Amino acid sequence: MAFVEFEAKDQIGILTINRPEALNALNDQVISQLDKVLDSIDLNTVRCVIVTGAGTKAFVAGADIAQMSGLTKKEGESFGKLGNDVFRKLETLPIPTIAAVNGFALGGGCELSMSCDIRLASETAVFGQPEVGLGITPGFGGTQRMARLVGMGKAKELIYTARNIKAPEALEIGLVQAVYPAEELMAQTEKMALRIAGNAPIAVRACKKAINDGLQVDIEKGAAIEEGLFGSCFETKDQKNAMSAFVEKRKHDPFVNC
Ligand code: HXC
Repeated sequence: MAFVEFEAKDQIGILTINRPEALNALNDQVISQLDKVLDSIDLNTVRCVIVTGAGTKAFVAGADIAQMSGLTKKEGESFGKLGNDVFRKLETLPIPTIAAVNGFALGGGCELSMSCDIRLASETAVFGQPEVGLGITPGFGGTQRMARLVGMGKAKELIYTARNIKAPEALEIGLVQAVYPAEELMAQTEKMALRIAGNAPIAVRACKKAINDGLQVDIEKGAAIEEGLFGSCFETKDQKNAMSAFVEKRKHDPFVNC
């Protein structure tokens, strides 16, 4: 049974969490499959990955509560590490990722979306970190990424109150970048993914790394990270192709990723 499906088309990959009978809840099997699927993505051909949930109701309704209910302290910590390691792998995937949030994104589901570079939501999407209502903390990076994405005060408010928010509020606080009618979400997400895939892949990857790595250090070190990555784009075929086309006032050839 594939709890995580992956389909590559036109330089974009669509990764689907596929456990709709449990609203795509993340048990250890789903997380392990996600890990394997991330490892299997061909980074030479795929230029952007869309992460979504199967069915029409949920993106991911959280970590599997039934499975977590009997865990010991030690097992709880290990389960958190399992998810954290895989979500960090997703976050640091060299190519861009877009979460197409097509419904409930609660707990581990909200955390999965926050491990992607960009979040696009359907009008039916619901976000939240309900963990304190279940006697636990967020455990797949929610305390870390929520504060980085929406600011400390809003993150603390949402996490302490365990209040769910609907798509318009998620847009207002900057948790998501756009909201679409449910039936348009995938088409709009694919459109954005294709637009990203049409840009110079080495440069796009370098931008992701510069932003992600730069935000972990002070601005001086961040600028040095940018300089190194900026420099690494020169002498590539794509840089020469695009810049000579501009100078010669013509359209550049498609980018070749080298
Ligand atoms: C296990 C889940 C689940 C979950 C839903 N299901 N969410 N199973 N873990 N997180 C299952 C239900 O048990 C049910 O199974 C089926 O999916 C459909 O769900 P319903 O509750 O019947 O649907 P509905 O009434 O529409 O309510 C939707 C919902 C609700 C509001 C999203 O399912 C809900 O509150 N789910 C839990 C959300 C949550 O608290 N998530 C955070 C978990 S903690 P059956 O077999 O009865 O049909 C977390 C921690 C992360 O994520 C960090 C860990 C280290």
